[in-house]
Amino acid sequence: MADKISFEPPRGMRDFYPEDMVWRNKVFDAFRAAGEAYGFEPYDACVVESYELLARKAGEEVGEQIYHFLDKSERHLALRAEMTPTLARMVAQRQKELPFPLKWTTIAQCFRYERMTKGRKREHYQWNMDIIGEESVLAEAEVIGAAVDALRRMGLTTDDFKVHVSSRKYLGELLAKSGIGEERHAQVFLALDKRGKMPDAEIAAMLRDGGLSDAEVEATFAIMDVKSYDGCPELVELFRLAEVAGFADALQFDIAVIRGLSYYTGVVFECFDTKGEFRAIFGGGRYDNLLTTIGGEPTSAVGLGFGDVVVTELLKSRLGADAAKGLKGVSVGFMDDAQRDAAVRLAAKLRADGERVDLALRAQKPKRFFSRAGASGAAKAVFIGPDDVEKGVARIKDLETREEKEICL
Ligand code: HAM
Repeated sequence: MADKISFEPPRGMRDFYPEDMVWRNKVFDAFRAAGEAYGFEPYDACVVESYELLARKAGEEVGEQIYHFLDKSERHLALRAEMTPTLARMVAQRQKELPFPLKWTTIAQCFRYERMTKGRKREHYQWNMDIIGEESVLAEAEVIGAAVDALRRMGLTTDDFKVHVSSRKYLGELLAKSGIGEERHAQVFLALDKRGKMPDAEIAAMLRDGGLSDAEVEATFAIMDVKSYDGCPELVELFRLAEVAGFADALQFDIAVIRGLSYYTGVVFECFDTKGEFRAIFGGGRYDNLLTTIGGEPTSAVGLGFGDVVVTELLKSRLGADAAKGLKGVSVGFMDDAQRDAAVRLAAKLRADGERVDLALRAQKPKRFFSRAGASGAAKAVFIGPDDVEKGVARIKDLETREEKEICL
């Protein structure tokens, strides 16, 4: 006998059963609605990219996590781990024609060979919001504002989450004041990004490997205690704009936000749940040099990636496992085959009126019909028996209030 194939998806990949799709749709609907409310245009691209575009500088974790392969013509291809390099490529391809600043959005499935922990899978959907070609910090304010708006649409409040904001440029200036030159900043950023994920002693060792003296390591840790952003005009302006736009309560300065990707150049941010139970909800920042590193013209850019995994865990924990279920539509059933045509006709009429109708596929007892209709999340139900067909009228029942009204057949 042949070996039985496992019914599990490959490790780290997810199946979406209908009850999972209810959550996914709730999250995606909020992403799309917020993107639209903030005037972003949708774009998309294939999940397969050339490996060359995605290959990274040494040390960057995401580079080691790329799924890549040779196709039958020996092309070196990869599954995207994030959307940003693809976005940069698409912009570079049409740099002369595009009407900057661009405000583009997408929900992209991404693949990373991650160590599996809570909130981290090997595949996730990531909502991306990017503004390309705008230097003003209003660009940061708009992408963060949109992400906060999406969280609010999902039913969360700023008691549930905070967006931690910092600036790599500011951190760079503070490091430079302590005598740590720019050429060593990339190393320092990579090491500091690991804070909270590994012991400080290991981070100190990484910093020393990056060429920092003991005194410089100490100065670096002291900088991590800085509580004021007064010395950073971009952050002062960002907090002011957030006040004007009405989401300042969602922001909090946090010098420890570094971000693991090396392309960020200015403001960086990461959103966390206030209880500190989950991994980052979303993250992003300003990346003014990415287009030039792939051969495009110098272009300023700001953006964020907001995954579906962590926010769904957070929503289930804060709103309850059933919170995504909304009562919708009408279930139509019938007692005997003699009423089947009447049921089909009624379903057609209701559908023509724009109703969402779940028509029973076979005759059944009323008890069974109503219990299935209730479990399916229908708002209303009509059950057609022999007498109803004779009278030409049936009763439509509101499954929540139990009220009944007559409906013509
Ligand atoms: P990132 O911080 O690597 O940034 O990912 C952004 C978000 O995607 C995370 O905060 C998390 O919600 C989600 N995410 C990432 N990896 C996983 C995973 N393995 N499993 C589940 N969720 C995950 C970026 O990717 C940047 N490209 C974002 C960006 C866009 N920056 C500028 N524009």
